[in-house]
Amino acid sequence: MSIEGRSIIITGGTSGIGEGCTRHFAELGAKVVTASIQREEGEALQDELRDAGHDVTFVYTDMTDEAQVAALVQRAVELHGRVDGACSNAGAWIEGTVEEFNDRAWDLVMGVNVRGNFLLAKHLVPVYREQGEGVLIITTSTAAYVGFPAHALYCASKSALVALIRCLTKDHAGYMRTVGLCPGTIDTPMLAKSAEGFDQPIDELYAEVAQKIPVKRLGQPEDVAKAAAFLLSDDAGFIAGSTVFLEGGTLALPPW
Ligand SMILES: NC(=O)c1ccc[n+]([C@@H]2O[C@H](COP(=O)([O-])OP(=O)(O)OC[C@H]3O[C@@H](n4cnc5c(N)ncnc54)[C@H](O)[C@@H]3O)[C@@H](O)[C@H]2O)c1
Repeated sequence: MSIEGRSIIITGGTSGIGEGCTRHFAELGAKVVTASIQREEGEALQDELRDAGHDVTFVYTDMTDEAQVAALVQRAVELHGRVDGACSNAGAWIEGTVEEFNDRAWDLVMGVNVRGNFLLAKHLVPVYREQGEGVLIITTSTAAYVGFPAHALYCASKSALVALIRCLTKDHAGYMRTVGLCPGTIDTPMLAKSAEGFDQPIDELYAEVAQKIPVKRLGQPEDVAKAAAFLLSDDAGFIAGSTVFLEGGTLALPPW
């Protein structure tokens, strides 16, 4: 289950799940290119991991801007000669019902969550075709399968990815292995933001939520990072076109 020496891109790699992936892959000896719109955090993470002897490069990339996505892939090729795998993890979250959303909300959520994944795939395909191999892991969400209250836009964006994963698998069979990674409730800044709408103190709220999850705890970014490292490795070579669930059993619960 090794990704040692592999050239790996992570988007949204400087916070939450993506930061967990950046740290874990670096510790496993991968050559990591981590990208996001958090310049300060990205540079600090790069410096910290380089000081610890790891091969990590931060590249500022807005996933909604095609030229920047193309440049990200190009930079990884220039740095490491190839790209072995990518974790397409950058995501935007917004709460509300359809009546409350305007075009800006649509463009933000669909732009990052759907178009961002689409663009990364588009610019990885020629590299993977030329190499004859490559892995793309796309972060979905339990929101793709459950109608969370006041989450129409986010849920729709994550559902779109399930179809995208299938189509990429078919269209680029033989040289690109695409897999979905579906986290449940993971303790990250995005989750903390979603908890702001509740009256309860966050610790109390998290403890209550943890009790509802069959494994009785929230997920941590490392849980997702370990699964992602496996999916990137050759040991996962027969997993393609489907989604690996990492939700502590949440989706097994009855609806009432
Ligand atoms: N935390 C959870 O409970 C949970 C559950 C299911 C799925 N997810 C998904 O996991 C992924 C990571 O979420 P997280 O919880 O770690 O959130 P987070 O807010 O901690 O991190 C999101 C990352 O995406 C980056 N990003 C946002 N917009 C971007 C853009 N335009 N271009 C490039 N990067 C951009 C941010 O800079 C940040 O690094 C997201 O796709 C999210 O939808 C999270």
